[in-house]
Amino acid sequence: MLLNIYGNYEKLSTHIADVISETIKNNPAAVLCLATGDTPRRAYQLLAKKVEEKKADFTRCTFIALDEWVGIPPENAGSCRYFLENEVFAPLNIMMSQVYLFDGMSRDLAEECKKMDNIIAANGGIDLMLAGVGMNGHIGFNEPGISPGKYAHVAELDEVTQSVGQKYFTGPVTIKQGITLGLQHILQSKKLIVIANGAKKAGIIKKVVEGEVSSVIPAGIVRKHPDGAVMIDAEAADLLEKETAL
Ligand code: GLP
Repeated sequence: MLLNIYGNYEKLSTHIADVISETIKNNPAAVLCLATGDTPRRAYQLLAKKVEEKKADFTRCTFIALDEWVGIPPENAGSCRYFLENEVFAPLNIMMSQVYLFDGMSRDLAEECKKMDNIIAANGGIDLMLAGVGMNGHIGFNEPGISPGKYAHVAELDEVTQSVGQKYFTGPVTIKQGITLGLQHILQSKKLIVIANGAKKAGIIKKVVEGEVSSVIPAGIVRKHPDGAVMIDAEAADLLEKETAL
């Protein structure tokens, strides 16, 4: 596993944007799975600038969603879909015809999962997955204790995820379940980059990078990935054993 530590969030975001734009330069029809959340927000803004300056072109890529809250409608600003439409698809000129998202409002969530598994297989797998880390070590909505053999599934969200997740919403919401790609999708993606920033992530990053690899910290799967990388800023790296920032 590659570990890259950047001096600050801006440097981290610049590098993430560069890796994504290199990926589509080398493979314009790449299948991308890019996380929602606060961590990648700045990288997406930097990518949008590249698109504006014609230094990046996403018109041929395919986009696969990582996860979604169950029971939160797409027009809710806290939904993953809302984030993606506003922070990724519109700024990067990605058309909805290139995109496959989870419908967290579906009455048949099991079918929704099956559909996503089939779409990923039909597209030849995910070329690049960019994923954040939850405060409890989750990746997507693969919560602590998840079986490594899973593909897309509905997750019961643990208390940490339910409470931390409130930050995305304008008022209190009940978020008991999520729908997510599974650890098998994450493991089978051709390249996996796990990202984190800020002092609040330092404790969980220490467990991801230096702790025992087990289902207790699902994001630790990055250490089993043949092309896995952890890219973090200096604050998130603060508790790691002797590492130097790039
Ligand atoms: C959220 C999402 C993840 C995200 C992670 C980290 O709950 N389900 O996909 O990557 O937790 O979020 P953030 O970047 O806001 O810390």
